[in-house]
Amino acid sequence: MKQQGEKIAVLTSYDASFTQLIEAAEVDVILVGDSLGMVIQGQESTLPVRVEDMVYHTRCVARARRNSLLIADMPFMSYSSSEQALGTAGRLMKEGGAQMVKLEGGATQLEAVSQLTDNGIPVCAHLGLLPQSVHKLGGYRVQGNDEESAGIMKEDALALEAAGAQMLVLECIPEGLAEDISRSLGIPVIGIGAGAGCDGQVLVLYDMLGITPGKRPRFVKDFLRGSGSVAAALKAYVKAVKEGGFPTAEQSFH
Ligand code: KIV
Repeated sequence: MKQQGEKIAVLTSYDASFTQLIEAAEVDVILVGDSLGMVIQGQESTLPVRVEDMVYHTRCVARARRNSLLIADMPFMSYSSSEQALGTAGRLMKEGGAQMVKLEGGATQLEAVSQLTDNGIPVCAHLGLLPQSVHKLGGYRVQGNDEESAGIMKEDALALEAAGAQMLVLECIPEGLAEDISRSLGIPVIGIGAGAGCDGQVLVLYDMLGITPGKRPRFVKDFLRGSGSVAAALKAYVKAVKEGGFPTAEQSFH
């Protein structure tokens, strides 16, 4: 799709019923995100999410998945060594039915990425705002907005691809940097709060349906508003991503 210039529509899902609707809307990729800690479990961050939780929700989604690619997040502290990463990814694939796993981080994750890849496990990397490192980052803030951190992020992206990563998520970074990274990599780059220059877009399902309580982040659009039904909202999201109508400049960082 990247080579053909077709934008990739990605959404999170955590259960079978929503997955059925997401499939019907022809979403390309489903991510069982550890965001489930916040939107399903009511936790303050993604940190308390356990491997068991991810396996359970991935299995629920896998039962309803048909055509989309199914990615599962590796939760906090479940891939601190390559051996542990292999164990976690193995469970997500064997017990959960995931087809790819996602992990957060750059240079520190290169060994894990290459070990997973060498063992036949496709990996999606994740750079920019890393929710599992929220306490290190000091909050949920835009990343890569100075020359030095932007340069490090681009180097990390290239190194992750060289280590075998087959997809990259960029979260909350300036759109110019995201576009530069997307153009520099052969693998698809999926943005969330990273502007329209990425190869695809991802949103947390409950955010784009307007049901996550609290203040909505700037990069989120409520697709349910004015759509009339969840099914129509999901289709509107896919259409907007494919046609370049989402995100707009107001939903991006500059
Ligand atoms: O956990 C999640 O849902 C994610 C997306 C926000 C990319 O990682």
